[in-house]
Amino acid sequence: MTRVYFIGAGPGDPELLTVKGRKILQKADVIIYADSLIDEKICSGAKKGAEVYKSASLTLEEISEIMTKAVKEKKTVARLQSGDPSIYGAIAEQMEILDEAGIEYEIIPGVSALGASAAALKTELTIPGLSQTVIITRMEGRTPVPQEESLSSLARHKATLVIFLSISRIEKIVRELLEGGYPPDTPAAVVYRASFEDEEVMRAALKDVALKVKEKGIERQAVVVVGDILKAKGYRSRLYDKGFGHGYRK
Ligand SMILES: C[S@@+](CC[C@H](N)C(=O)[O-])C[C@H]1O[C@@H](n2cnc3c(N)ncnc32)[C@H](O)[C@@H]1O
Repeated sequence: MTRVYFIGAGPGDPELLTVKGRKILQKADVIIYADSLIDEKICSGAKKGAEVYKSASLTLEEISEIMTKAVKEKKTVARLQSGDPSIYGAIAEQMEILDEAGIEYEIIPGVSALGASAAALKTELTIPGLSQTVIITRMEGRTPVPQEESLSSLARHKATLVIFLSISRIEKIVRELLEGGYPPDTPAAVVYRASFEDEEVMRAALKDVALKVKEKGIERQAVVVVGDILKAKGYRSRLYDKGFGHGYRK
């Protein structure tokens, strides 16, 4: 059935596009992809004659018009979003417009920069005894962030923190987290272009991480990870503990 498919294109490596996403991409008549973050190689599997649009220079109205017109002409649209569409993907507004126009759509989840960065760091984000909570957030910029969600107030939880869209303000991030109560020696890391060939990982104590980022000149496409999980050693979950039975193991 013709419709719009919002597809999570993954964090960068084209092989991290899901099998389901790739199959839809191969059949799509119209492809719209977020070229600010997604490599155009992702479109190499498109069928001959597919119309391809880059969305970075388009407005919401222009994107919606392309999607709506195509579906009315019985075409299938693949709308590729970086990572997973549910995280800073701006799909809510696109879905609202499609709802108003009575256009069917479906969401195909993807691998977020969250998971790709944890993989690059070879870390688990939730380690029993250290943190069982991951806070995904960003600094306020032109997009407002509710006061209760300021970095200094989130810092009070001392949970694992993953900060998107904010690397250009790394000094402010560090200042707010220290003000909020993270000890200066809390382990921190920055992952630049996770899963791309030029991926880079920087690790430092929170108080020193801004300097590392500045030295490398990193200003975009990076996440900041903060928390004791980055230095975990010797912690054991109960999941595989031989003394801990559960539904799948006596
Ligand atoms: C508009 S958001 C999109 C996030 C995406 N929906 C996801 O799930 O990863 C863009 C931000 O995601 C982060 N990001 C996206 N791809 C990345 C990657 N490969 N490595 C590190 N950070 C990435 C950066 O913080 C960037 O500023």
